[in-house]
Parts: sequence; structure tokens; C-alpha cells
Amino acid sequence: MKDERVWSVLQKLEELEKNPNLEEGLWHISKETGLLLNIVLRHSGAKRILEIGTSSGYSTLFLADAARENGGKVTTCELSPFKIQLAKQSFDEAGLSDYIELLEGNALETIERLDGPWDFVFIDAMKDEYIFYLSMLWPKMRKGGLIVADNMLSHEGVLGIEAYKVTVDILEDGSSVTVPIGSGDQFTCKISE
Ligand SMILES: C[S@@+](CC[C@H](N)C(=O)[O-])C[C@H]1O[C@@H](n2cnc3c(N)ncnc32)[C@H](O)[C@@H]1O
Repeated sequence: MKDERVWSVLQKLEELEKNPNLEEGLWHISKETGLLLNIVLRHSGAKRILEIGTSSGYSTLFLADAARENGGKVTTCELSPFKIQLAKQSFDEAGLSDYIELLEGNALETIERLDGPWDFVFIDAMKDEYIFYLSMLWPKMRKGGLIVADNMLSHEGVLGIEAYKVTVDILEDGSSVTVPIGSGDQFTCKISE
């Protein structure tokens, strides 16, 4: 990732996240996680990219930088009005708005109406809902498609996260591994139709 305009917005959001007076926490992924996702996306050429949990748009910018390169687009879901406004501003400032569709509202309702197939999904929203995002999205993943879910290590022991890990491990048409980067990310690839 070499776009200075994108990096300057990422840096601004990193500073904003430290502000104790924000009306809601931003809970960004780590920069290293963002870079890894960007590299994986560039390598795979993924075009249809979905994110659950936009927040300020910090993670979305890493995804959208790759989507632009791949000739694709990121669809991202967020329900907080405060964060929706912040994210829209971030996308404009980074020059990436044309490569992002921000869907406002509860992702559980939004993803029901979204058609697949998806090349790549990034899950980083309500931990207790991970298992529901997975069950709704897995049938819409293309063969070779990848779902990455954040907070596997930071939220170890939380029921929703443990249920997610067990479920991806027993998928007959999936191959899954926990990557110890940032908060811990579960990579699950759909290996057959
Ligand atoms: C951990 S933060 C996302 C951080 C973001 N991915 C990043 O790294 O910059 C989780 C976000 O998911 C949103 N969220 C939680 N449950 C949601 C739901 N059911 N539908 C849409 N957004 C949801 C929260 O409002 C919050 O902004």
C-alpha cells in the first residue's frame, strides 16, 4: 500500500481512536492486520468484498485500496449513525468512495438481501453474532473464497467466538486456521462447492 492519501487518513483515524472523549469507541483492527488483508486481496485479485462492521472505515480503507487495484468494490455494513458519518468522511478524504458501498443498518438484515457469490468477507462486528453472519454467508461464498473473522485471540473464551471456531473447524467444505496477528484472525477458505 503506497497511496499517501490513504495513509494520511489511516493515521488521522489512529489518532482519533486515542481520543477518550469520543461518543463511541472505534475498535480498529491493527495496522498489521490491515496490511495482511490488503496483501491477501491483491494476491487473490478478489473483486466482490464484503465487510461486517465498518466503524470509522479504518479497516475498510485497507480493503478498498486493494479493491481499486483489482477492479472490484467493497460492500461494508454499519449500524451506528456516528460511525457511518465518520466512515463516509474517511472514504471521501482517502479518495476511495467510488470503491465502497456503505450499507446502513443491522448487518443481520442487510446480508440476508445481499446476493453472492463473495470472493472475500471480513467479519468484525458483534461477537455473539459471528455464527449467524457465517451461517448466512457461507452458502454465498464462491469456491476458493475466504472469510476472515477478527478477535479470535483477544476474545478467547467468549461464547460467540468459541462457537465460531468450532463451527469453522468442522465445515466439510472449509479449511480454517487462526492467524496470531493483531487481535487474532480466523482464515476460513471454501474448498469445494
Ligand atoms: C470492532 S468495530 C469494527 C472496526 C472496524 N472493522 C475497523 O477495524 O476499523 C465493530 C463495529 O460493528 C458495528 N456493529 C456491531 N453489530 C453490528 C450489526 N449487527 N450490524 C452492523 N454493524 C454492527 C459496531 O457499531 C462497530 O462499529
